[in-house]
Amino acid sequence: MNVLKGLPEATVIREPSDLEPFLRDESHVHGVLPLAVVKPHGPMALRELVRRAKTEGFGLVPRGAGTGKAGGCVPTDRTVVVDFSAWPGDIHVSPQDLCLKAPASAPLREVKAAAEAQGLFYPPDPNSWESCALGGTLATNAGGPNACKYGMTRHWVLAVDALMDDGEIHTFGIPSLKANTGPNLAQLLVGSEGIFGFIVGATLRLTPRPSEFTTLLLPAKRWADLLDLPGRLCAAGFLPSAFEFFDPAVLSELRAHGPEEARRLPGEALAILEFDERGCTSEPFLEALLDLLGPMADGLEVASDERQRGAIWAVRRMTSAFLKERHPEKVSEDIVVPRSRLGEFFTRLEGLGIPSVSYGHLGDGNLHVNLLAAGETEPALLDRQLMVLFRLAVDLGGTLSGEHGIGLAKRDAFLALSDPGQIQILRAMKGALDPCGIFNPGKVI
Ligand code: MLT
Ligand code: ZN
Repeated sequence: MNVLKGLPEATVIREPSDLEPFLRDESHVHGVLPLAVVKPHGPMALRELVRRAKTEGFGLVPRGAGTGKAGGCVPTDRTVVVDFSAWPGDIHVSPQDLCLKAPASAPLREVKAAAEAQGLFYPPDPNSWESCALGGTLATNAGGPNACKYGMTRHWVLAVDALMDDGEIHTFGIPSLKANTGPNLAQLLVGSEGIFGFIVGATLRLTPRPSEFTTLLLPAKRWADLLDLPGRLCAAGFLPSAFEFFDPAVLSELRAHGPEEARRLPGEALAILEFDERGCTSEPFLEALLDLLGPMADGLEVASDERQRGAIWAVRRMTSAFLKERHPEKVSEDIVVPRSRLGEFFTRLEGLGIPSVSYGHLGDGNLHVNLLAAGETEPALLDRQLMVLFRLAVDLGGTLSGEHGIGLAKRDAFLALSDPGQIQILRAMKGALDPCGIFNPGKVI
């Protein structure tokens, strides 16, 4: 593409066969061939890209490691993919300020490791944490099992450096929790999926690293028994750092076809519960927990060392990839239902006759409802099924995405199910921050 000739501080990919890998992320949606892929190495490239996008009339699509689950980084019509994998910068930890600064290109696993090396903890742990880039987790406000106690990525962002419509990189926020100077633009950008500007780096909040863990495998004789447990735990003053689940269908698949460690998983349905506060391995803590569990504690297994803890988590961490391998065309959703209405959700879901299986983050009501037969389902019927699922979540006071975001995959549903006033405000903001519509066009709104 001529318009990208002589772009400074950048590697430009134009060969159609080399562009192919950029058409998809880890969702079920497909993009169209981009005009080019650009890997910027410095601010001059971004400045020039913004200028040329405006004058030549093409859009810019941000990309981290491509592990997104909603098609947020797949190219739409007449766009250039801006791949941040070569964006420069190092990770700097400041134990005094309890924070860390890192570029968007930093692998999340390195960000977490840098904090750990100083006895600190950066909690966000999306399932892709070993392969995703920090930038993608910021753009999508990624979640994960630890969100149950620690919240989402946005709860750990103090400041961001972002490319805005003037072609410059601006810093929003300071390395302190206390900054109260009007609306928080850093938080506006986190989770906005690149539609207002592109985050190129961030200052992240850290907390002392937990050193005590109680990890439990909790089989349920009756699946329904698990569903009021998240609410009961919270009401009794327990706050698990993770509370994951497999419904009977997912558990059976794992048992029948999963790896060795999965073959022995007990129960009709199964939960993984983890606590990480000081004292969580003490007798009084465990006794109080057993009291609360009552008869449900039958068959409970407690990890007695790091190896057993790791084995429990390994099964949970491979579930998404395992199901994808067996059902390559599956669609995985990530709706949210308030904890107090989980039982009602699953009863009503069954009544709707949508063929689905579920696993995910029961502790915060963030459920990965998977339509395994999506590939063999007529597209219009699949759309209707998904819409019914989203409506049910919304009816119960929940929402259509808890952690994956809207991207391209859920855009139509988001527009259909949201308050029109909210969409109008978002569009007005988009118009003000991105008047030429160059930032991730066709996504979210
Ligand atoms: C997970 O928690 O495993 C991922 O967010 C889920 C998915 O594949 O939908
Ligand atoms: Zn998840």
